[in-house]
Amino acid sequence: MSEDVINKNVEEVAENAAEKQVVIPEFYRDLNQDPEHRSLWHYVFRTNGDRKPIKTTDGLPHKLDFNWKDMFPNENGHIEVEIGSGKGNFIADYAQKHPDYFIMGSEWDYTWAVFAHDRMEKRGVLDNASMLRGDVFYFLRDAVKSNTVDAFHMYFPDPWPKERHHKNRLLRPDFLTEVARVLKPGKRLFYWGTDHKEYNEIALETFDAFPGCKVVVRNTAEPTEGITTGFERKYRKEGRPIYRSVIEFKK
Ligand SMILES: C[S@@+](CC[C@H](N)C(=O)[O-])C[C@H]1O[C@@H](n2cnc3c(N)ncnc32)[C@H](O)[C@@H]1O
Repeated sequence: MSEDVINKNVEEVAENAAEKQVVIPEFYRDLNQDPEHRSLWHYVFRTNGDRKPIKTTDGLPHKLDFNWKDMFPNENGHIEVEIGSGKGNFIADYAQKHPDYFIMGSEWDYTWAVFAHDRMEKRGVLDNASMLRGDVFYFLRDAVKSNTVDAFHMYFPDPWPKERHHKNRLLRPDFLTEVARVLKPGKRLFYWGTDHKEYNEIALETFDAFPGCKVVVRNTAEPTEGITTGFERKYRKEGRPIYRSVIEFKK
C-alpha cells in the first residue's frame, strides 16, 4: 500500500470517528532524510513493516523534537513555509531569489515531492530550500516549535469542490491555530491564492474571524514577487479568475 493510500485510509478512519463522535486515533509519524535526495524529508507513519500505521499508546499526538537546524544546518533564523508545493515552481524561484531565506516546501504526493526536489536541485537551492513529503498539517502541529516561522505561502490548495468533501480542505480554523502558533511574534504575512471562488470566500471568512488576523490585501494581490505557480500558469491560460490575498497575523 502506498503512503498516499495510507493517508487516505487514515483520513477515512478519522472522518468515520468524527461522525460517530468517538475518539480520533493518533499515530506515530517519523521524520527521515531521504538517502538519495539530501533536501527531501519524509514525514511518514511508523509501521511494523506491514504498512499498517501504529497508533500512539496513550492516544495523544506524537510530538517530535524537531529544530529547523536539523533540516537546514546553516539556517540564520529566517524560516518560511509553503503549504502544498506541487511541482515546486514557486519554491524553486523564490529560494533562488532569496539565498538568505530558509524555505520548506511541502507535498504529500511522493512523485511530486521528488519532482519539486529535483527542480530545486537543478536551481542550486538545496542549501536554503527543502521538501517535506507528508501531511504538513500534522508536521506543523506535532513537530514545528512555536514562534519559529516568518511567513507562509499557500497557493492553489486542493479545493475539494463537493460539499461532503469540504471537511478535507486544509484552510480550517484548526490549521490557522497551528499557523498562528508557529509564526514569530509581531506582524507576519500569510500569502494566499486560489482560482476557486467559493473556497476563497470561505477562506477569507475564516481569516477574518481568526483572532489577530487581518486581510491586508483582499483578492487583488499580485503573484508574490511576480512568481506564478504551476497551477496558476495553467489557470491563467484558461482565463480563469485568480484570487490572491495577503493576510497579516499579529501576536
Ligand atoms: C492543487 S495543488 C497546487 C500546487 C502548487 N501550489 C501550485 O499552485 O501549482 C495542491 C497540492 O497540495 C498538496 N497537498 C494537499 N494537502 C496537503 C497536505 N495536507 N500536506 C501536504 N501537501 C498537501 C497536494 O498533493 C497538491 O499537490
